[in-house]
Amino acid sequence: MKPESRSRTVAVVGAGVIGLSWARLFAGYGLTVRVVDPRPDLVVPDGVEIAASVAEAVRDADFVQENGPEDLEFKRTLFAELVREAPEHALLLSSSSAIPSTAFTKGIDGSRVLIGHPFNPPHVIPLVEVVPGEQTSEESVTKAVEFYRSLGRTPVVERKEIPGFVGNRLQAALSREAAYLVEQGVVTPQDLDAVVTNSLGIRWATVGPFLGAHLGGGPGGYRHLAEHIGKSMRGLDLGTPSQDPERLIKAVEDAYGSSTYPALAETRDRRQLAVLTALEEN
Ligand SMILES: NC(=O)c1ccc[n+]([C@@H]2O[C@H](COP(=O)([O-])OP(=O)(O)OC[C@H]3O[C@@H](n4cnc5c(N)ncnc54)[C@H](O)[C@@H]3O)[C@@H](O)[C@H]2O)c1
Repeated sequence: MKPESRSRTVAVVGAGVIGLSWARLFAGYGLTVRVVDPRPDLVVPDGVEIAASVAEAVRDADFVQENGPEDLEFKRTLFAELVREAPEHALLLSSSSAIPSTAFTKGIDGSRVLIGHPFNPPHVIPLVEVVPGEQTSEESVTKAVEFYRSLGRTPVVERKEIPGFVGNRLQAALSREAAYLVEQGVVTPQDLDAVVTNSLGIRWATVGPFLGAHLGGGPGGYRHLAEHIGKSMRGLDLGTPSQDPERLIKAVEDAYGSSTYPALAETRDRRQLAVLTALEEN
């Protein structure tokens, strides 16, 4: 996991679920990592430094990875400060899940600001969605792609801003139907999870929806699938979950609430790494 260790410095602004995972990845690749977060219970991975302020964290950074709250006003204020305080060559990347960078760079120089959206946890999952805003320079896009590649990630550049980008929009479509099926009493949360992890999850670890469908059509390919099974799928009346999620939340807590977060997260990381290892070996 440590192909190179050039002395690059990265500032991690916001050290919650995502920031701490990024910090772990960056430190694992030998980067100098400086974290800033006002939370009183901040504990950072080995080898990571804690800065007292955003200005101190970014002062000599080559890269800044922002992971603060998913809030437009927060990101607007923070990125104005980052543009002021970080060195001119520093790339300013946001982990934002849904808010495009054009929305929080109005009125400031956004040429080196762009989205570098990971999937949780970024120290394990390879995808980073690289999404330039209206002001982002092409040089910044290239630098972001090189940066994430150098950390063993798989950056995918998305050329048009859309709220939620690509990965979360796909996830939201599936999650919406999952919530509906549980609300309707068709399956329990555990059984729905079992359906996904024993079928779609395994398939999608190796082929995406399009190649999967193309193969599902046999020798006739995507056309055959679309014209035959696809027809019956198009007729499905997909559901909309209720606006009151309380029952659903309780059902999920009943299913998983007795295990601790670290235990569940450790199992998740181990299993995902096993899939990645198996893919590398085959
Ligand atoms: N959780 C996910 O699955 C996930 C996945 C990909 C991207 N993201 C995105 O990453 C970002 C962070 O999400 P998260 O889940 O880690 O949230 P989180 O609530 O776990 O962490 C946010 C952190 O920001 C800190 N913070 C608040 N004000 C700050 C400031 N002024 N300076 C520095 N730090 C400050 C908070 O103390 C907190 O620790 C969001 O934009 C989110 O959309 C989240």
